[in-house]
Amino acid sequence: MSEPQFDPTQSFGIIGAGALAHNLAAAWTHRQPTQAIDVWARHASAGLALRDAVARAVPTSVAEPSGEAEEDPRSGVRLLNGIDECCTVHTIVLAVRDQDLRDVAIELAGHPSEVPGAVVLHASGALSLDVLKPLQTAGYAIARCHPLVSLRRKADPHAFEGVGFAVDGEAFARDRAQGLARWLGGWVLPAIPTEAAAVQYHAAASLLAGGVGTLFEHALDGMARALGDRDSARRGLIELLRSVAHNLEEVEPRDALTGPSARGDVEVVRSHLASLTPQGADLYRALLPTMLELAHARGSLSDENRDRMLEFLAREGVR
Ligand SMILES: NC(=O)c1ccc[n+]([C@@H]2O[C@H](COP(=O)([O-])OP(=O)(O)OC[C@H]3O[C@@H](n4cnc5c(N)ncnc54)[C@H](OP(=O)(O)O)[C@@H]3O)[C@@H](O)[C@H]2O)c1
Repeated sequence: MSEPQFDPTQSFGIIGAGALAHNLAAAWTHRQPTQAIDVWARHASAGLALRDAVARAVPTSVAEPSGEAEEDPRSGVRLLNGIDECCTVHTIVLAVRDQDLRDVAIELAGHPSEVPGAVVLHASGALSLDVLKPLQTAGYAIARCHPLVSLRRKADPHAFEGVGFAVDGEAFARDRAQGLARWLGGWVLPAIPTEAAAVQYHAAASLLAGGVGTLFEHALDGMARALGDRDSARRGLIELLRSVAHNLEEVEPRDALTGPSARGDVEVVRSHLASLTPQGADLYRALLPTMLELAHARGSLSDENRDRMLEFLAREGVR
């Protein structure tokens, strides 16, 4: 069976002007330079900021200077005057915060679709499709299309390249979402079978994305104090992080583990804990039992060194 295709000559729109909206509008403009993307931003200044950011990031896009009345551009970002104008758009992405999704879906449902085959997508990893249900009776097919990526308010035309998308929903809308994911340069993850699995999926993603960011904060603090230069510390740590990611692409996490904890070096670990911020030391302590388990499982940590480390951890109050 052939994979669903996305038709970029049909109209495409976004509700919202935040992180997802910025990246999506830039990616669209980069890939479809001859057709504008429709954006409904409830605050005019946010819409103009998005439009300018996209015009800067994708120079082929035609955008009016900030604050001036908008003609009807054939490329770049076309700002809509109200959510009611979305009813003539073929594919609409609700790029609003999760807590606002339900209200926005209800508001849009007040403006039934005027085009055949209209689809509305949400991009939340935490919420199910239920939140879009009010739209079904207004002539919109619905799907969830969650990009497994960390986005910030930046117009990056390449933001979705290589990214896995979790997609589910009504068959027609799901096909549209899968086609969109591939058209953006991404790929479609295996279907998530149940809502419980969807929670597991999102918990795993949040643990990694949030966890790495949090660890980085404390590693950067310690490294910057050691080097006396935060920029060099960041640059050095980013390369370290890249090397970890690269190793994790090729081997199992336990085989990628390096450092004194993996060797069971109690004295080095003790001095590390003393040198970190209290929060950084707490994070280090919390990770140590799992590090030991992984190192022991791969056979690089002897029983004797593991026991010495466990005794040390017990004295540190770690179970
Ligand atoms: N950021 C990520 O890394 C990421 C990754 C994957 C998926 N997602 C998903 O993408 C979706 C959007 O997240 P985000 O990070 O882009 O959020 P965000 O940066 O906080 O932006 C949310 C946008 O929604 C707008 N908005 C809220 N209520 C609205 C309404 N009633 N009408 C019109 N616009 C409204 C906000 O406008 P105001 O500024 O006026 O409040 C803001 O522009 C969420 O479902 C999120 O789970 C995000």
